[in-house]
This record gives sequence, C-alpha cells and structure tokens, in this order.
Amino acid sequence: MKVLVTGGLGYIGSHTVTTLIENGYEVVIVDNLSNSKIEVLDSIYAITGVRPAFYQFDVRDEQKLDELFEKETPEAIIHFAGFKAVGESCQEPLMYYENNLGSTFSILKMMKKYKVCNKIVFSSSATVYGVPDSVPLTESSPIKEATNPYGQTKIMIEKILTDFAKVEGTNVALLRYFNPIGAHTTGLLGEDPNGLPNNIFPYLNKVAVGALPILNVFGDDYETVDGTGVRDYIHVMDLAEGHVLALKKLEQDCGVFVCNLGTGKGTSVLELVAAYEQANDIKINYQIAPRRAGDIAENYAGTEKAKNELGFECKYSIKDACGDGYRFQIYSLFVQRIKSKNREKEVVQE
Ligand code: NAD
Ligand code: WQD
Repeated sequence: MKVLVTGGLGYIGSHTVTTLIENGYEVVIVDNLSNSKIEVLDSIYAITGVRPAFYQFDVRDEQKLDELFEKETPEAIIHFAGFKAVGESCQEPLMYYENNLGSTFSILKMMKKYKVCNKIVFSSSATVYGVPDSVPLTESSPIKEATNPYGQTKIMIEKILTDFAKVEGTNVALLRYFNPIGAHTTGLLGEDPNGLPNNIFPYLNKVAVGALPILNVFGDDYETVDGTGVRDYIHVMDLAEGHVLALKKLEQDCGVFVCNLGTGKGTSVLELVAAYEQANDIKINYQIAPRRAGDIAENYAGTEKAKNELGFECKYSIKDACGDGYRFQIYSLFVQRIKSKNREKEVVQE
C-alpha cells in the first residue's frame, strides 16, 4: 500500500517512515523542512536501502498537493505535519492555528476528491486530556479545555476529523502520543532541535555531550515519587510501530479509532536522569529549578485499548531510549563538526 507521510522528515515522521518501509509499505513524503533537514532523507536511505519519493512544499499549498495526489494516488495518509512547541504557540497562536488546522483542511479536501484515499492516521497528543483528574489516562478520560493554542489545535483537529469521517465514511486513527523520546537504534536518526530544546530529552542529550552546561529540573515539590514531574516516556521506535498497527486497523474499515500510545508507566525527571547516566556510563550535570508554568505533576497512559485492539506492546525500555538518544547526539555533533570544517575550508579557498 502507498502511504503519504506529511511531515515525514521530522522527528516522529522519519522514524515511522523507516518502520513503514521495513513493513513493505511504499512511502511518499511531503515536508516543507520548516523544522527538519533534507539530510534526514539520506539517513532513511542508509537505514532502509530505500529512498522514498520526497516532495518539498507546504501541505497548505492545495495546488501542489493536488498534483501530488494525481501523480502518486496514495491510499492512506499519516499526518504528522504541524507545529508542536507549546510555549511558541502561546506567543504566536495564529501561526499555530493556521498551520495545524490549514494543513489538515488541505489533506481532507484531497481525501474528499480522491476517494481511493480513505484512511488517515493523525498525530494527536496526551495534551488533549489537559490537567488529569486521575491517572492512568484512558481514551474515555475527559477531553479538557487546552491550556495553550497548540493543545487546542489537537482537540479541534480530532473533532474535525471525526465530523469529516461521519459524512465521508473515512477511516481515522487519532493516536494520542504520550512523551516520545529516544532515537533510531542505529543512531542515524533522532531529534536535534536548533536552539534551546523545549522538551526534556533533547535537552538531556545536549547536556550529555557538553553542548549545554546544565539541566534544570523544573520543580522537586510535586506530589510524586521523588517530587519531580512524572511522565510516560515512550521510545520513538515503539511509537513508529504503533503507526503501522494503526494502518492495519484502518484497513479493517474501523471508522474513527481513538487510541493512546504510551508505555503505561510513569517515570520521574530524576529517574530519567539516572537511567540516562546508567545507560551511557556518564554523569549528567543538573540542578533543581523552580516549577515551569503550566506543568502538571503526573501523567501516564492507560494502555489496555492499544494492547487489545492494536496488539501494541512496547519493546524498548527507557534505558534503551537513553542509549539510542546519546548515540544519535554524538553522531549529530560529529556531522555538525564536519560541516563547519568544510565551511572553514571554503572560506580559506575564497
Ligand atoms: P517535528 O517538528 O519534528 O516534525 C514535523 C514535521 O512537519 C517537520 O519536518 C516540519 O518541517 C513539517 N511541517 C510542519 N508544517 C508543515 C507544513 N505546513 N507543510 C509541510 N511540512 C510541514 O515534530 P514531531 O515531534 O515529529 O511531531 C510530529 C507530530 O506529532 C506533530 O503533529 C506533533 O504535534 C505531534 N506530537 C508530537 C509530540 C512530541 O512530543 N514530539 C507529542 C505528541 C504529538
Ligand atoms: C517532561 C518533564 C518537565 C524540560 C510536552 C507537551 C506535550 C507533548 C510532549 C506534543 C516535565 C520536565 C522539562 C527541562 C525539566 N508534545 N523538564 N527540565 O511538558 O510533559 O509535554 O511535550 O504534543 O503536549 O506539553 O514534556 O519534555 O517538556 O517535560 O525538568 O529542561 O520534564 O517539567 O516534568 P511535557 P517535556
């Protein structure tokens, strides 16, 4: 089956592409590189031996998207493309509503036009549950008013896809990811944001290799196992596998399928730091800092539905994720150094 992956060169998209290829899917990627690099395509090739068809444009460009559909006729879509930084969404709400909703509208218009494409997997988020009344969070936990525009776009898109599916008979998987971490086991793919990372794992990676001096642990006075925030960290390769299982589910004409993707286990910030140190035999420089505004104490996924209805089970541990993440960060540092050496040479030659 041919699958169109929007945002397929991004963090979760690129890992999912490798898993799709390994499972025999033909992959077409569209990405405008607003938060990714073209080199990711080489890494996908190095890992899988396949170079997927790649289109560089904004998914909101309906004319280009129409041409792509005409040429490639995908039967399913995995829709990752969107902006994802919570803090930035509070500063630039319009940019978030425009991109996240706009890209979804373009995709849905094409699905309406090209009826053969009647399956879509959407990257939703545990953020739709807001501040939890209780944990674990199951798919029937209430959807709360989001505390930020980013989260609001996820709630709105879930609703839009559900309404669309009712009329068009589309099969939709709304996958609510918990906290994805780690990297491809080869260390060739991972997450290396420019500037200061918002999320803990890329921050930890940068502290580990000395690119940042110290990790601030945001609060140690929560009512949790050791006072630090607890989250459900899921290895990105397990998450990738979840998308393949979701596609199989959609092939059974299941209508709208809502599902958490997490491990079902909470891990505190200090436990994550300890796992990272153990996995890589290094020391992480950290200090306790004030709580971060808007943070919740604890969340983790209820995993029964994913297990029973998708057959989803996580293969990788937090320690695996820490080892893979560190390996990728070293690789990424190495690539950056080579690039800057080459630039120095070019300047000297001029
Ligand atoms: P990412 O930023 O690494 O990947 C998104 C990709 O989409 C990037 O390559 C970017 O260049 C591309 N893109 C953005 N807008 C586009 C547009 N209009 N047209 C074409 N390409 C566009 O993010 P990620 O971490 O891989 O997340 C993927 C999806 O999963 C997002 O929708 C995100 O909201 C969701 N999600 C992420 C997390 C997380 O913690 N990473 C958690 C829950 C949900
Ligand atoms: C995890 C824990 C922090 C950074 C966010 C989005 C959510 C989803 C995943 C997209 C918390 C602590 C963090 C640091 C720290 N994304 N922390 N020092 O906030 O659970 O979720 O990403 O959908 O919508 O809100 O993830 O990685 O930012 O934080 O101590 O430098 O690490 O306080 O307890 P979060 P995170």
